[in-house]
Amino acid sequence: MRFVSHFYTSLLIVSCAIVTLWLYFGSSIRSTSWNPRQSTKQSPRFVLPDFEYEHPHYGPISEQEEAALMATPGPGTWTIDYSEYKSFPLTAHQYRETVQKSYELQQKIGGNHMHMNFWKADASFQDIAHNEDPNICESSISYLLGDDVTGLARQLTGLFMSAGLAIATNRTFHIIEKDWAWGQWTDYFQEYKPNCHVPPDELVAYPQHTRHWVITENTWKTVYTHNFRNTYEDLSQKGVLRQKAIFQMVIDGIDLLLHLNNDVEGIYRSEQDGILKQIGSDFLSVQIRSGDSVPRIPSILRPIPAIESYEQQIGSTWSQIFPDIPNPTLAVISDDLDAIKSIRRSNSSFKAVQPFEKTQTDLFPRRSGSGGVFLDKVSEMSMEDRKKLAKKILVRLAIAKEGKAVICRSTSHACRLLASMMGWQRAILDQKWISLEVYSWRVPEFRE
Ligand SMILES: *[C@@H]1O[C@H](CO)[C@@H](O)[C@H](O)[C@H]1NC(C)=O
Ligand SMILES: *[C@@H]1O[C@H](CO)[C@@H](O)[C@H](O)[C@H]1NC(C)=O
Repeated sequence: MRFVSHFYTSLLIVSCAIVTLWLYFGSSIRSTSWNPRQSTKQSPRFVLPDFEYEHPHYGPISEQEEAALMATPGPGTWTIDYSEYKSFPLTAHQYRETVQKSYELQQKIGGNHMHMNFWKADASFQDIAHNEDPNICESSISYLLGDDVTGLARQLTGLFMSAGLAIATNRTFHIIEKDWAWGQWTDYFQEYKPNCHVPPDELVAYPQHTRHWVITENTWKTVYTHNFRNTYEDLSQKGVLRQKAIFQMVIDGIDLLLHLNNDVEGIYRSEQDGILKQIGSDFLSVQIRSGDSVPRIPSILRPIPAIESYEQQIGSTWSQIFPDIPNPTLAVISDDLDAIKSIRRSNSSFKAVQPFEKTQTDLFPRRSGSGGVFLDKVSEMSMEDRKKLAKKILVRLAIAKEGKAVICRSTSHACRLLASMMGWQRAILDQKWISLEVYSWRVPEFRE
């Protein structure tokens, strides 16, 4: 699609046309032939981040800069200047810096009001210059897999949701890898190649109506905002039903991207075989994230479920689905090898098995009674070990989703990801995804 010809009409329907907004900027830039080195009447008067940061992370805007800015408010006041950078794409950390700077600036010039529409453009922002080339995407959303060692399920959920957001807004989705902490995309998944190209030096992390928007896990908070929820939640519904469109984004991303490569698919098939031989296909999945994801501070609002507290839920879910079969069969999916022992102990009628029961070696020392994955330990692991771990995580998830129901704690990102992997109908409408902690689905809020 080409939107250039719709330029003027798009101005009139600005409040309802989600997509045309950023294209307005795309088109206006094409028409001004703006060049960062040459000052024209339309060129931005204030650029980021072409000055030294006073602090290594989030330097405040100096008084001088602010004064320059205030003297020249109006459309196209600011843009992003990458002239100081040599290597593209930037690192996740560098993108976060530009976001922080831009955000601060926007606050100061009052461009960041509480709009109801997530895609409402900030007119004070002028998009960076874009090359015109038929191979370059009309517009895109990229997700950058960066070098921060954070949970795999959490990273993937952000990636899937970004892909779904791209699909929902007719942008091309790209995966960008820059020293990804978990290895490479194709270590686990089939190759994903969109049919158009995004120049790495044209990626902008904020604001979102830039032509080639890049999201990273640590810029997520510019996505999952109040405005985002205003735009995509259905306020006429209650609880999780309200979030269907957001949930659907994760599902769409999963459909597009979650295709295991031959290696991981092979491991999955062999573990799945083992489970089927031992307990057949009628089982409940009990997912228990241990390690550092266990909430440390108990609270009345968010009690910590002991492993034993799964027992009651298993019993009631089982008797609902299989009223005629007395003994529940369970696949226990946990990063803690010993979790299955607690489940077995909790009720002797449970027949429980777990993937990797025979082959799994515990990579992590137990700490204060808890086993499982601790991310600070993961960051000390060799890449080879990390990849082994990641494959196990993916295989466990693939097996867990086959349970007739999934019981888990929604503070775990893997638990929430499982809900999307099961699909809207089964997980939410049929209530086969059962969270021990909160009744409603929550999309990843990466501030947690
Ligand atoms: C995306 O494209 C489809 C088909 O061209 C169109 O029907 C739909 O309205 C577009 N969606 C948005 C958000 O622009
Ligand atoms: C163990 O689980 C079975 C099946 O769910 C249930 O009928 C039984 O009451 C449980 N036993 C105890 C001691 O809770």
